[in-house]
Amino acid sequence: MNKAFDIGIETLAGREAAPAVTPQSQPPAPELDPHALSANSGAGKSFYIETFGCQMNVHDTEKVAGVFLARGYHAAQNSMEADVMLYNTCSIRAKAEQKVFSRLGEWRGIASGKIIGVIGCLAQQEGEDIFERAPWVSLVCGSASYRKLPEMVAELESGGRRVIGLDLETEETFETEITRRDNPFRAYVTIIEGCDYACSYCVVPHTRGPERSRNSESVLSEARRLADAGYSEIQLLGQTVNSYRDPSPRKLSFVELLREVAAVKGIRRVRFTTSHPNDFHREIVDAIDETPELCNHIHLPVQSGSTRILRAMLRTYTREQYLEKISWIRAARRPISVTTDIIVGFPGETESDFEESVTLLDTAGYDSVFAFTYSPRPNTSAAKMADAIPEPEKSRRLAILQDRQREIQIARNQAMIGSTFEVLVDSHHASRGQWAGRSTSNHIINFASPRETLLGEYVQARVTRAAPYSLVGEQVI
Ligand code: 5AD
Ligand code: SF4
Repeated sequence: MNKAFDIGIETLAGREAAPAVTPQSQPPAPELDPHALSANSGAGKSFYIETFGCQMNVHDTEKVAGVFLARGYHAAQNSMEADVMLYNTCSIRAKAEQKVFSRLGEWRGIASGKIIGVIGCLAQQEGEDIFERAPWVSLVCGSASYRKLPEMVAELESGGRRVIGLDLETEETFETEITRRDNPFRAYVTIIEGCDYACSYCVVPHTRGPERSRNSESVLSEARRLADAGYSEIQLLGQTVNSYRDPSPRKLSFVELLREVAAVKGIRRVRFTTSHPNDFHREIVDAIDETPELCNHIHLPVQSGSTRILRAMLRTYTREQYLEKISWIRAARRPISVTTDIIVGFPGETESDFEESVTLLDTAGYDSVFAFTYSPRPNTSAAKMADAIPEPEKSRRLAILQDRQREIQIARNQAMIGSTFEVLVDSHHASRGQWAGRSTSNHIINFASPRETLLGEYVQARVTRAAPYSLVGEQVI
């Protein structure tokens, strides 16, 4: 990659993808270099991308937008007037998939004269079948093939009727000349793509391909550019972010990369997600302890509290091994918040397996939990397993687990009353007269302030009230 540009959404015509924040806090964005637009084939045309799914998808959309910008397209004000409409999709659970097809149905009526594309995980999973189910679609591209997007777009521009990119066998990562930055406060940086684990319930290895780590110098130069552009918070992304292995001769480990990103001048906060427990080593906790820029929050999906179910899930660790890692985190000098993902109702999960997931909540003391009912997915080994749990029973377990976690969060959040946190302010709720921002531990604090402009600033906020899912406070001036 010779040139790379990060441009804030505010420099673009279209605003639909921008988060709900007012523009004045946008960090300074470098001007677009006209040379970057030499492949000006899309001049005058516009694109619109709708995103569904995880942070990896959100950031992929920023990069795919960059591909179109580099070809001279501009962001459409709304979907109706776009020449190219893309849907970046998720297929992690069946509900996500259903949503994609119903949304594509809604697009049918406005498809005439436009290029409609489906990209992301469902594109990879369903491939050409998407053309059958939604004939108004003319581009299908899975995330492991995004590096081919410029060629695919060129083919459509020169009159091609249908293009498809489903290549999974790749060692390359997706790097773009330009990345459109839709979040003015937090910049996402992919460090590893794909996944080499084979969890028996999960589509990701099939939809995102094998694990590929990015060259450390490429990551670090992106971080430096972001700092120069005014970003102070970076979130390193990867499906298994801590499995990172630098392919360059420097061969940086994940922890070494963390420390180097944190040392970039101007970067105040570094987050990383998602960590796999198997690659979670004590050095990560040491690095957080020793480096104030590394945020004190770890998302460490456990998936189940039962070793028997973890085995069936092919998670590669036991309950005890997972809890040992939690004990390292709890022994840190800085308090580190921990969040997790849990699946209930995996095939064969007995009442006592489920109970082990509930008791794990108490033992681990999570700050927040994303809990899901198991959803059988195509191409996964769990889909063929016997002893499926009936849907009403899955829902019952989900409710019990969520109720327990709610109680835990009430207690944990109430213990924060009176504490003061530094928050990066990222939104303003005029109707409530409140500002909101995140602490380094990733807690959202809603707070009152006499100040009129605070977006993008780091301020001290003291917690005065706590609910299970929110903290309320006041600015300490
Ligand atoms: N069913 C339910 N939840 C799933 N997840 C992944 N695959 C499935 C599935 N088939 C959950 C896991 C993962 C999160 C992103 O989604 O908990 O960590
Ligand atoms: Fe899916 Fe497991 Fe890979 Fe996570 S580690 S993306 S759950 S296969």
